[in-house]
Amino acid sequence: MNETVIYDPFDPEVLTNPYPLYARLREETPVFWNDRMRSWVATRYDDCRDVLRDHRTFARDRRRVNVDVPEFAQNLQTLDPPQLAPLRSLLMNAFRAQDLDAAAHRTHDRIRGLLRSLSEHGEFDWIHEVAAPVALGLTAELFGVTEPDHEPYVAMADAISRRMDAGLDPTVVEPGDEARKRLNALADGWFAQDPGRPGLMTTIQELMAGSGVPGHYIGNSIATIFNASYGTVFAAAGNTVLTLLEHPGALDQFRDPRIVDLGVEELIRFDGPAQGTSRVAAERTVLGGHVIEAGQPVITLLAAANRDPAQFEQPDELLLDRTPNRHLGFGWGSHACLGATFGHVAVREIVLCLLEAPSLRLAGTPVRRRTATVRSMDLLPVSFRK
Ligand code: HEM
Repeated sequence: MNETVIYDPFDPEVLTNPYPLYARLREETPVFWNDRMRSWVATRYDDCRDVLRDHRTFARDRRRVNVDVPEFAQNLQTLDPPQLAPLRSLLMNAFRAQDLDAAAHRTHDRIRGLLRSLSEHGEFDWIHEVAAPVALGLTAELFGVTEPDHEPYVAMADAISRRMDAGLDPTVVEPGDEARKRLNALADGWFAQDPGRPGLMTTIQELMAGSGVPGHYIGNSIATIFNASYGTVFAAAGNTVLTLLEHPGALDQFRDPRIVDLGVEELIRFDGPAQGTSRVAAERTVLGGHVIEAGQPVITLLAAANRDPAQFEQPDELLLDRTPNRHLGFGWGSHACLGATFGHVAVREIVLCLLEAPSLRLAGTPVRRRTATVRSMDLLPVSFRK
């Protein structure tokens, strides 16, 4: 189980641009064992998609391989069908009941207001001044809850996001679990808050009565959804803007209404926030010619799959009218992104607001966050050209 190409997601060069390494892995060692993470890693599109859609063989619920999952951690991300079905269906119905157009308008107004006030300033950091407040504000609005205080929330979300890299750095486990408990407590508080206020919280409360779904699954899932929304929108808001800044002319193409929705999907494929996700083999199986033993984890490198030339023509080009574009940036199968339409809308409204603003330019060197599962940024210095 030797690693022929070294995969170190924390290597500064890889953090800046992981795609050349992903290309080598896909070509030379498409499925490999990584000793540091004690996990198999799949990099080709077909292998990743096959893992994600085969929940019988590749489990999310680690209790199926006799790993303890504490109650505070049990939520829609840790369950598998058939237990997952009633919970996921309740939550999907709650999402469907939300007014997507109204959410898009609110998001647009929020971003436009923020960009107007920032256009008075010189240089600013897109990540702290735009990505974080937009992600938190629109998530709280979607839920219909009072926006949590920014600083403590951002610190908590950061610890949870780093916890996803526990295989690479065990020191992130304890702060991540503590943050997760604080987030669950915050979500529990929302059950008591502003009953009847429109949004996901109220809809979920209405739907859960008599549903038979265990209360802690729902409570913990609310925390999970809130944070999945904040974390990915925050990351996408940075990644997509940097992509646009690095591709002169790309933003202007969004003036063509036929491009807008295709272009958003291409931005997610090209440099999306979710670099990978993991499953565990529930039984002995074979993947990419390797025997995977029951209990061994498998990471699907979604971002590597999204540049696989066997699936995408000119995979390293940003082609905003790309179609079809069956990327894995929102996942695939029974755990595919629950909030994909809202994530899409968030990215779209950011892009559309940028079209209305004075043109944005890079004002310094972007700094990537030292995380592997989620690809995001710590700093993106920009300014509006006057
Ligand atoms: C551009 C933004 C987004 C991206 C790129 C994204 C990406 C993903 C991906 C790749 C997965 C699958 C993870 C896996 O299979 O293990 C996922 C799951 C999930 N996403 Fe998103 N997401 C985005 C926005 C959102 C938003 C806005 C929400 C909520 C409002 C959300 C809620 C969720 C939830 C709850 C799951 C877990 C589903 C499950 O395990 O059954 N996401 N997302």
